Amino acid sequence: MLELLVLACLLAVAHSLQGADVVLSCSFIEEGGGMMGGSLFARTPATLVLRDLPMSSDLSPETITPYNPPDEPKADDLIFEVVVSSVEIPEAESLLHADCNEQEVVCELSRYVPRGTEPDALPAHFIGSIQIEGGGVGLTLVLQTISNEKAESSTPPLMQSKLQLPLSQWGTLLTDAVFVVFSRSPSLAAPIGVDARLDCGYRQKDASPEQSVGLEWRWQHKGNGRRILDMRTQGVETDGGTEVQVEREGVSADSTLLIRDGNASLTMKTLKVSDEGTYICTISSGAFQTQQIVQLQITQPPRVFLSEKKVVFQDESPQKLSCHCERYYPLDVHVEWLSQPPSETESISLTEKASLSSHRQHNDGTFSLSSFLFVRPSEHPPGTTFTCRVSHFALQTPSDVTLTVETPEPEAGKYYWMVLATLVLSVLFLYQASR
Ligand SMILES: *[C@@H]1O[C@H](CO)[C@@H](O)[C@H](O)[C@H]1NC(C)=O
Repeated sequence: MLELLVLACLLAVAHSLQGADVVLSCSFIEEGGGMMGGSLFARTPATLVLRDLPMSSDLSPETITPYNPPDEPKADDLIFEVVVSSVEIPEAESLLHADCNEQEVVCELSRYVPRGTEPDALPAHFIGSIQIEGGGVGLTLVLQTISNEKAESSTPPLMQSKLQLPLSQWGTLLTDAVFVVFSRSPSLAAPIGVDARLDCGYRQKDASPEQSVGLEWRWQHKGNGRRILDMRTQGVETDGGTEVQVEREGVSADSTLLIRDGNASLTMKTLKVSDEGTYICTISSGAFQTQQIVQLQITQPPRVFLSEKKVVFQDESPQKLSCHCERYYPLDVHVEWLSQPPSETESISLTEKASLSSHRQHNDGTFSLSSFLFVRPSEHPPGTTFTCRVSHFALQTPSDVTLTVETPEPEAGKYYWMVLATLVLSVLFLYQASR
């Protein structure tokens, strides 16, 4: 995989100072590959070439080498070349950077039939889904084939064996990107209680201001799913109004932004643990209907504290330390105990000696957990420090709470005995006196 990505990075070409080509290794997915009892879908390696994407930042010429189409065009090659992009491809630059930063790019291509067209009608349509792992942009592109007029010369064009579509002289399928649904942050993590915006937008070739646009947001999680918002706008010009249905309290989308800017973002008020999941933004406009996924993860860091304010060994009996992790999400939390003897720099792990409570789940879906450790005076002289270290997904660095073993105060001990003796004597005296 790594080699593929490095190759793709090297294949990026700067046409001019503003434009660069992005070459992605993809899979072409077709239904019906399951003859041998395997998956229902067959995957064939394919390539997607996005030509001359506008790039704003300075690209160093050393990192880019020219993209060369195959020397000898082959009918089996599946190279989708987006020669013109009638729509702006948002965040195109992040595709180039992802390649060079060795982020994994998942690219899948498949056939697409726009509403109201026959499956074999020309121009043909394909859908390309490009997702950058670990953040970045998520794009779903509708590609429309461009007829290859110049090739009408002496020899008939080479036909792609699988698609039965004419290839360019250099062996690629020429396409135009006519519709795109995208998210600038397809994966989002947020704590409970805050408001969130799930980003989604679209661009369409020759969009008419009169046409109606449909937006649906669905939520899915662990086998459950439901519609969150459904919006249908009548175009700006006709001013036919907007119909909206909302099925989670506090969610909204802006119909003006939807028509004017192609902005389909969903605003959610006061996030809860139960909002976690996969959100599907579906845009229908004209003949096209396409989706983009946005993942929402709820991450709530634990509050970490010890019950004990200090450790003082008065005698030889062991003492219990309790470390509490409160109201965190998701469930996985890791508690370590460390001790560091006085005048030493290395810590010793005591985690194996500790015991854990079970997870407690609160009404808001967050969890709490406690860890207990018995410490003995014989093993831990005064000056020893104990650290409870908690690691959790929502914490960038582990959270530490520390205690130091204090020297018992002998004065305090003597004083205690004196008070006790005085008390006993007074009681005896009073008892005698009362008789
Ligand atoms: C939608 O609008 C919001 C608020 O102005 C903005 O932050 C966000 O980036 C926009 N998203 C898209 C996809 O245009």
